[in-house]
Formats: sequence, C-alpha cells, structure tokens
Amino acid sequence: MASENIIEEKKQGQALITDKIKGNNKKLFIESYGCQMNLNDSEIVASILAKEGFNTTHLLEEADLVLVNTCSIREKAEQTIRKRLQKYNRVKRINPEMKIGVLGCMAERLKTKFLEEEKMVDLVVGPDAYRDLPNLVKEIESGKDAINVILSKEETYGDVTPVRLNSNGVSAFISITRGCDNMCTFCVVPFTRGRERSRDPQSILKEAQDLWEKGYKEITLLGQNVDSYLWYGGGLKKDFKNASEIARATAIDFAKLLELVAQEVPKMRIRFATSNPQDMSIDVLHSMAKYENICNYIHLPVQTGSTRMLERMNRQHTREDYIKLIDNINKIIPECAISQDMIAGFCGETEEDHKATLSLMEYVKYDFGFMFAYSERPGTLAAKKLEDDVPMETKKRRLSEIINLQQKHGLYRMQQFVGKTVEILIEGDSKKSSEQWMGRNSQNAVAVFPKTDEKIGDLVMVHIDDCTSATLIGRRVA
Ligand code: SAH
Ligand code: F3S
Repeated sequence: MASENIIEEKKQGQALITDKIKGNNKKLFIESYGCQMNLNDSEIVASILAKEGFNTTHLLEEADLVLVNTCSIREKAEQTIRKRLQKYNRVKRINPEMKIGVLGCMAERLKTKFLEEEKMVDLVVGPDAYRDLPNLVKEIESGKDAINVILSKEETYGDVTPVRLNSNGVSAFISITRGCDNMCTFCVVPFTRGRERSRDPQSILKEAQDLWEKGYKEITLLGQNVDSYLWYGGGLKKDFKNASEIARATAIDFAKLLELVAQEVPKMRIRFATSNPQDMSIDVLHSMAKYENICNYIHLPVQTGSTRMLERMNRQHTREDYIKLIDNINKIIPECAISQDMIAGFCGETEEDHKATLSLMEYVKYDFGFMFAYSERPGTLAAKKLEDDVPMETKKRRLSEIINLQQKHGLYRMQQFVGKTVEILIEGDSKKSSEQWMGRNSQNAVAVFPKTDEKIGDLVMVHIDDCTSATLIGRRVA
C-alpha cells in the first residue's frame, strides 16, 4: 500500500544520488533505511559531505566512503541493516581503502558496539552529530576509527540546506522537529533521537520558498510528532513553561506554523507527518480547512483500539478521545483521508483488546495503514517493565486480520473517488507503463492516467473511471 510515513519498500536502501559537483573527486555511496526523517537526514549528510569533496555514486564498488542511515524501530529493520553491513564488508575485501560508516538510530543505540565487538565499520555517527562529519571523516581517512553519538538539546540543522537525493524535482521534505518526548512504552525513538526540539520557523519558511523557486510543487513537513511543534525562541519543548512571558505569548505552535507555510508558498502543496492524537489540536484542523494548499490527509497512528492497551503504551489518550478527534476531522475537513499505524500483540493484549482494534478500524475506515507485529526493543519501558507475552503465532494472526480489514477499507475509500474528478500532481511515470503518468490527489491516493501533453510537476484534473485497492485509474479532463 502507498506509504506516507515510511519510505516505500522499493526505495528502502536504494543508493541515493544527487547532482555532481565539479571538482569533487571523492565518492560517497549512501543508503537510507526507515522513516522519511532518515531520508531527509541523509540529504543533510550529503550536503555536509559535498563541501568536503564528495560526490554521490550508485556503485558500491567504486565508493571511497559507504554510509548507511539506519533504523532501530523493529528488530527486523536492524537485521536488514546487518546484512547490508556484511555486504559492504565483502566489497571492502576487494577495495580495502573503502571506509564504512553507520549513521542514525542504530549508531545511537549500539554506540561503540559496532567498532569494538563487531569491527564491521570505521565510523559511527548518531543523528545529532552530522555536523561533526568533516572531522570524523578526516579521522578515518588517517586510518583511525571515529565515533560521535552525542545527542543534542539544540541541534535542528536549521541552517543546513539539504541537497535533494533521488529527487523527482516535485516533492521534498522539510524537517520541523527532531526527537520525541512522548515515551510510548514500546518505542525506541526517544532513546535514539533524543529530546524533542523545534526548528526556527524562519528557516522553515526560507527552505519552503527556496524549494518553490527551484520548481518543487509539494513539501512534507516532518517530525516524529509534528503537532507538538513549538517555537518560543529556541529550547526544549519541556522547558516552555519556564520561558519568559513574552516568549510564551509570541510562541508559534503547529497550527500557526502550518498557516505561515501555507501563506509563504500559496501554490505549493503542503503535507505533514506524523500526527499524534494526544497533541493534535482543533486549531490544526482549522488551519487545514482554511488553506486550499494544505492537503486533506492526516496520518494519525493509534496503535490499538483498546483503552487498556493505550494506557499500557503510555499513549495519553483513550479510545473515546481518539474517536472524538476523528469526528472533529470529519466535521471540519470533509473528505479528509486518514491513515493509521497499528501494533498487533503488544504486551498483555487479549482477544478482546484485539477486537477493539478491529472495531475502531470499522468506525474510522482508514484510507491507508501501516501495520506491525509488536517487536520488543531493548532499553524501552516495555522491555524493562512489561512481559512480551503474546505468542508469535497469535501476533501474526491478529496482524493478518488487521491487514485484511485495512485492505477492505482501503478499497472502499478508493471506490469513493470513482466517478469524480480530482486534482492530481504528476510525480512521474506510472510503474507499469511509460505511456501513463502517476500522481496523487490531495488525499494522497495514487492515480494513473494516459499521457497527453503534460509534464512532471503539473497539476491536472483527472476523472476517475475505476480503481484497485491501491490505485485510481482515470483520464485527464482539464
Ligand atoms: N511518531 C513516529 C512514530 C515512529 S515509529 C512517526 O514519525 O511516525 C512508526 C511506527 O512504528 C509507530 O507508529 C508504531 O506503529 C511502529 N512501532 C514503533 N515501535 C514499534 C515496536 N517496538 N514494535 C512494532 N512496531 C513499532
Ligand atoms: Fe515513538 Fe511515540 Fe514518539 S511512537 S516517536 S515515542 S510519539
């Protein structure tokens, strides 16, 4: 299923490429796993290294430096990356000059383990230490190992203009917050990405304007929890209560930021991810309703439909609170698409809890979903305090029931567009045929239609004649 908060499967780990800079003669092979935030971080890394003489390459064999931006969210994500590290090490036997580095969440979680015990890499850099890369790269070039996994309370890379990797020239990401303070008991992110901080709105607006001038037509504002965005002159979210009166009075929250971005680039499509039910305000919904260019799509992970489980997950809201929020979305933004993340088989989940998840899904009828079996992560509150007691078989069965139901609802949502005319932003060729365009509507549904005289980046009206559970099929009408 099309994915907004998770990089599409096929793009996971693809070599990331950007324009060549003349005079740069070192070769960087960089891959990114996990969330969109990681992809955007890889763009920041490539930008920093471009100034150090590196051009990107898609050939592992010719690389001077191989970097992998890693994900720790589930055990399987880490296993995938270990396999990649083994592959790099096989290539290194042929090209011993090649240096290997891990970036991101696994670097943060495993710290020196990669260097000392496993000896699989030369370089380990956590998500807040990319500015140190020029020094760290010099260290490894002189034959030493290098590591920086210090987490920061301020770093937002606000002044680093990311180079765009594997870009279609149409859609780009802008990070607006880093880290997360929510401490969901199952989640490793607060440990790997540190405390929550927000980026200076002026730098966000500038980046949006720059992208518009470069011809981009769609931006996605990124954060682990965008609704929690809060700018009061800098500083951690948790210190807001101690800020001066004036700083508090002039603070900018996510609803206001959305509005500022919508006004700054009035013809740019604006998306955002990820929203957290406990932090999403009615004001955000009103900003969305007010501005035509803010897309009608909310990724609103809930994880479970059972209040008892929500409590164990430390999600800070009940099933009823969530339903109220869904009702408000439907009231304030008619035709808003909503997607979920679900976790099947969290600690102590009973059949009744699972049924509550299915019934919540029936209520919402999500457009899209990203569904996972619970995977215990070392160091999390759940790993320390709760027993991972749902048998794998049961987790898998519940997960497949959730996925099947989601597929049914996905198809139902797609069918609602059949017979209607929708506005599509053209992103590129359809996967199946170069005679067809692929694009998305405001609700993030993928559409394909025959090419006539359009080009990538055009906004066109498409009449939808048919659909599958993942694709709208239509023809251009204006
Ligand atoms: N707020 C973040 C969430 C990151 S994790 C964001 O930007 O999307 C993405 C999803 O992975 C979570 O919503 C959750 O459904 C899932 N997930 C997180 N930890 C998990 C675990 N230990 N086991 C299974 N799934 C997990
Ligand atoms: Fe993880 Fe919960 Fe934050 S899922 S990223 S701790 S909102």
